[in-house]
Amino acid sequence: MKALVTGGAGFIGSHLAEALIKRGDEVVVIDDLSTGNRRNLSEISEDKKFSFVEGTILSEKLMGELIKGCEVIYHLAAAVGVKFVIDNPVRSIEVNVKGTEIVLEFASKFKRKVFLSSTSEVYGKTEDGFFKEDSDRVVGATTIGRWSYSCSKALDEFLCLAYYREKELPVVIGRLFNTCGPRQTGKYGMVIPRFVKQALSNEPVTIYGDGKQTRSFCYIEDTVRAIISLVEEPKAIGEIFNIGSETATTIEDLARKVIKLTGSNSDIIYIPYEEAYEKGFEDMRHRVPDTGKIHSLIGYKPHYNLDMILEKVIEYFRKTRA
Ligand SMILES: NC(=O)c1ccc[n+]([C@@H]2O[C@H](COP(=O)([O-])OP(=O)(O)OC[C@H]3O[C@@H](n4cnc5c(N)ncnc54)[C@H](O)[C@@H]3O)[C@@H](O)[C@H]2O)c1
Repeated sequence: MKALVTGGAGFIGSHLAEALIKRGDEVVVIDDLSTGNRRNLSEISEDKKFSFVEGTILSEKLMGELIKGCEVIYHLAAAVGVKFVIDNPVRSIEVNVKGTEIVLEFASKFKRKVFLSSTSEVYGKTEDGFFKEDSDRVVGATTIGRWSYSCSKALDEFLCLAYYREKELPVVIGRLFNTCGPRQTGKYGMVIPRFVKQALSNEPVTIYGDGKQTRSFCYIEDTVRAIISLVEEPKAIGEIFNIGSETATTIEDLARKVIKLTGSNSDIIYIPYEEAYEKGFEDMRHRVPDTGKIHSLIGYKPHYNLDMILEKVIEYFRKTRA
């Protein structure tokens, strides 16, 4: 199988590319290195079955050639991270919407299967508890920048489903909940790498908001396994799947756990959302997936619990001082 991984120099894309190479696939990565890094691909960069193209998914010419030459596209390239999206609003919408349009247009032209990596952000600020794939979306006003990420990814999903229904393009949509592990950077607002770095350097661990918001975390290996299995499963075509863990934790408990596991002297401090992000910032109180659908189709359950994930991330930051 020859696979194209867009955004393959990023956190999730690089682990996915490695797993595909490991099982014998040929892999081409396209990445513009805006938030990704070539170093993330160092373990496979010399492999004969691997190639890297530095470029943007917004280039139709390039994408036409790359998509023609592969059998399946794992579309992960996107503007990611609440902070990044707020700081780069035009670029984020453009990459997430126009980039996906280009991928789907050529995938349809050459009849290639597409996996879209969507996000739990599409659920917005619904207070429903466990999110199911067909739950309603509740998002805030367009004046609040963070919701553009949710809407751009929702539009990607609409586009994928439209191509599936109207042009019979085989698409699979994964709605990823917080995924973590080595190589994830805390620069754009991701909470676990940020807390771990702060704790390891005995700086205050900074909680945005009151810390009572809940999140669930999934280890990268579990996420990659889910993506690959879904792409292999014919019954997944035309469907959306939550990918994540059902075990929730409050951000305050997460901060305490990180401090304990790192043996840090850090204090915990609270920063109002408006100071951390932007005026009028809204967050969702709870974000936990219902993973019944993916479990019934492919028997998926994450192997890693939060303690195991944190041990891995702490070890990574200790080793690399990244
Ligand atoms: N990490 C998570 O918890 C999480 C949660 C939900 C969804 N996702 C989705 O998973 C995907 C990967 O996210 P990640 O966490 O690995 O982030 P990441 O920032 O590490 O990866 C995104 C990659 O896309 C590349 N990219 C951005 N714009 C590009 C462009 N125009 N052309 C080519 N490459 C471009 C970046 O350089 C980067 O390498 C994204 O689609 C994201 O929306 C991630």
